Amino acid sequence: MEKRTLADTVRSLSNHLWPKGHAGLRTRVVFSMVALLAAKLVNVYGPFLYKDAIDALSVKPVMALPVAFIFAYAMARVMTQAFGEIRDYLFISVSQHAQRTIALETFHHLHHLSLAFHLDRQTGGLTRVIERGTRAIQTVLSFMLFNIVPTLLEIALVSGILWWKFNWKYALVTFVTVSLYVYFTFAVTNWRTKFRRSMNERDTEANTKAIDSLLNYETVKYFGNEEHEYRRYDQSLEAYQTEAIKSQGSLSLLNIGQGLIIGICVLATMWMSADGVMSGQFTVGDFVLVNTLLLQLFVPLGFLGFVYREVNQGLVDMEKMFELLALGAEITDKPGAPALSTREWDVEFDHVSFSYGPDRQILNDVSFRIPAGQTLAVVGPSGSGKSTIARLIFRFYDATKGHVRVGGHDVRDVQQKTLRAALGIVPQDTVLFNDTIGYNIGYGRPAAGFDEIKRAARLSQIEGFVETLPRKYETPVGERGLKLSGGEKQRVAIARTILKDPPILLFDEATSALDSHTEKEIQASLRDVSRNRTTLIIAHRLSTIIDADQILVLKSGVVVERGRHAELLAANGEYAAMWRKQQDEQKKAAAADPSIT
Ligand SMILES: Nc1ncnc2c1ncn2[C@@H]1O[C@H](COP(=O)(O)OP(=O)(O)OP(=O)(O)O)[C@@H](O)[C@H]1O
Ligand SMILES: [Mg+2]
Repeated sequence: MEKRTLADTVRSLSNHLWPKGHAGLRTRVVFSMVALLAAKLVNVYGPFLYKDAIDALSVKPVMALPVAFIFAYAMARVMTQAFGEIRDYLFISVSQHAQRTIALETFHHLHHLSLAFHLDRQTGGLTRVIERGTRAIQTVLSFMLFNIVPTLLEIALVSGILWWKFNWKYALVTFVTVSLYVYFTFAVTNWRTKFRRSMNERDTEANTKAIDSLLNYETVKYFGNEEHEYRRYDQSLEAYQTEAIKSQGSLSLLNIGQGLIIGICVLATMWMSADGVMSGQFTVGDFVLVNTLLLQLFVPLGFLGFVYREVNQGLVDMEKMFELLALGAEITDKPGAPALSTREWDVEFDHVSFSYGPDRQILNDVSFRIPAGQTLAVVGPSGSGKSTIARLIFRFYDATKGHVRVGGHDVRDVQQKTLRAALGIVPQDTVLFNDTIGYNIGYGRPAAGFDEIKRAARLSQIEGFVETLPRKYETPVGERGLKLSGGEKQRVAIARTILKDPPILLFDEATSALDSHTEKEIQASLRDVSRNRTTLIIAHRLSTIIDADQILVLKSGVVVERGRHAELLAANGEYAAMWRKQQDEQKKAAAADPSIT
């Protein structure tokens, strides 16, 4: 991946600042800039009214004149604030729009990245990148536009006024001290950022420990390790505390230093203007004007350290998010790839070899064909590559060699969306959405009506269970479906696949978590469902696949035997050995517990 530069980040951001095709938002940008300028001008003009009021008071005590100036001065202060608020209000739509589009874009993009990316990621880390990145947009935009730029403007204005109204010495003193102030602030902020950073790190650490410990609630109790957990958590809290104290100390140092520089500036300019007043060159009002202009200028500068750090951090956060957006998807549709359309839903592996990484071959020259409407079973030891076959049919990965074809088309040549629409899978490990049972079954076809959901539940033998629940289909299943038993989850997965009603079905150990009684019943409905559909069954219990049209025995990614059940038994090879072993086990189990059949 190429490294993004700051310029790239700023460019991505400015596109959102001046959004294409959103005339309304662009108008808002323009008007909020006008409000910004107006606020600054009124703000700088205020001290002049103040000065006039003072001069009017000291020259001739006619009350009307100073009152007029005081009134105008008060108005100027109110208007400064009002313009500032108008600016913020106008701009909020722009920055919120930018945040929303970027968040959506990122979410969309993540769904396009391959399974390989998602298996490597850390979900927690990923969501933080997005969360921080989008929040940073708001920070960077508002600080840049409403703090840094206007402050620069104000510095220029004030220096100019001092030069024009008094003389170049004032402008010079102001310019030098402000530069010194900025330099000092940046330098100290850079130095103290490390306390801030380790404070954040300790904070994350404490959080991670707390969350991990709570997630392992049961384990902690099994081993009676509560004290141990408290200690570990407190260690992180203590480290955080130490860093927080250092951070505050360094902030105080920064503030004292800044105050000192302001003091020097105020001292020098007021000395000069006092001198001018003494010599009759300036009025008392002028003396006050200088002071007011400068103190006003230093107010936004007071936040400079904070702003500098936030903008820096914001740019880093944004860069990370834009990097994620720049990540290319590995599995993509060919340009102009057609939708998958066929009359005959067969599935074919044509000399397919595959490996997840360069170091280990998972499938080796696997070939088979499931004619439309027929059933193929794949059996073999754990890790032999059975689930991998299903993933290749879904095109979560591309074969390293050979072709995977569905309906006569290489899966790489058709739109992924239409390919996947034709496939239904009951995966080996079912993970459910943290919603209700009804929602999870309905996920198979979001447009399905309640009757259809119930029918699917009936076919997958889960209706009886759901009916016993007080909230029936409205029962929440918990995070990842953890509130359901393994067998219940599996039946929900079967139900949603039945609801999807695709021409091709894949069952990856779809009934492994069920007791043999329920399994038998489901097998009967699965046989109904898969009649006349192209079906791939991955099974551990051989008794469930004796009817298959074809059985493949896979061992370390190689097809070692193939044929029908009877043929394979007759061949007396691997399959026959597995079969005998399972029959023995079953007999033993039946002898020990007569309720098992
Ligand atoms: N994403 C991955 N990256 C690297 N290796 C993987 C990945 N997924 C699976 N493997 C490896 O590929 C091999 C085949 O995995 P697969 O899931 O196809 O096995 P399986 O035959 O379905 O096994 P089981 O019966 O235990 O489900 C395993 O050794 C596994 O460790
Ligand atoms: Mg598997």
